[in-house]
Amino acid sequence: MDDSVKPERAAPASASPGQTPYSAWMRTDVLHSLQHPVSDHPGEHAWITSVQVSELYWMLIIKELRIAQAQLRANDLAQAIKTLQRVVAHHEPLNATWRSLAWMTPTDLLAILSRAVATFGKDTALQGWTYRQMVYLLGIKQGEHLQHFEPQPARWDQLNTTLHQPSVYDDVLGYLDRHGFPVPAAVFQRDFSQPYTPSKDVEKAWRDVYADPHQHLELQHLGETLADVAEGFSAWKHLHLMATRRTFGARPAYFGTEGVAWLVPTMAEIPFPELWSARGFIGDPPAACPHMHKQGGAQQ
Ligand code: HEM
Repeated sequence: MDDSVKPERAAPASASPGQTPYSAWMRTDVLHSLQHPVSDHPGEHAWITSVQVSELYWMLIIKELRIAQAQLRANDLAQAIKTLQRVVAHHEPLNATWRSLAWMTPTDLLAILSRAVATFGKDTALQGWTYRQMVYLLGIKQGEHLQHFEPQPARWDQLNTTLHQPSVYDDVLGYLDRHGFPVPAAVFQRDFSQPYTPSKDVEKAWRDVYADPHQHLELQHLGETLADVAEGFSAWKHLHLMATRRTFGARPAYFGTEGVAWLVPTMAEIPFPELWSARGFIGDPPAACPHMHKQGGAQQ
């Protein structure tokens, strides 16, 4: 499925008159015609650039996640890990965009936002479809967010399709299941549009992947790369929350309730849940380990 907006014209086969090969390839004239400030605040350029760069990175991550899904389905684990490592790398510049906005005080933000509301109406970043597409692909499925896309029927359809499809995590679990780490059939037969319910059997599959430090190293590498992806994603959410505290405080936001209070619970939405919960017992000695009994006895 093509996630991107269809270009009006295909890229020219060669540089057209008035372009250099670089400008023709990178479409720099188009790119630099896309920033249209609505206020006279000098910082609005930084705001628009940061958000547009984030949009580009979210789309890049979407493309990478879809490539990783295809590679996992083709049982090409080495290439899937390589693709997911690129996702980890993309989170670095994405998350660094927050530095470009660190100068912003509440007065600065409101000067920009008030003009945006006056020009376009009441907005929320929840109306951004790239972020939601990425979140669905990471396996965090919340159908209620579709409501924001009713004015954009093509995007609503696209997100609704992704909501109903397996996420990258489902493809990872499919790979584990096909390679000696059984995952219950119910995990694959569920309604993918519903929030994922973690499974004890999936936890055990991850425990078994990590049980021996000398075996299944490629799968352990996959697990650690996924943990890095989840960390990059959660780091973005933390930086966003801190920027909101810094520039917005306890004001009511889009839903009329305190914006920070809306965001705080979303910090617990960490992708690949059993990869994390299994760490509560990965590496534990077997329950019947005599050494453990001895220690327990010594304490009594
Ligand atoms: C620094 C000033 C910012 C403030 C005060 C702020 C505030 C908020 C608030 C209150 C929400 C919750 C929904 C709502 O009430 O609208 C939200 C969600 C969101 N914002 Fe921001 N935001 C800021 C900057 C940004 C920027 C620069 C981006 C993009 C680069 C962004 C992307 C998002 C996204 C993707 C969500 C959805 C988060 C989720 O679903 O967990 N925000 N923001």
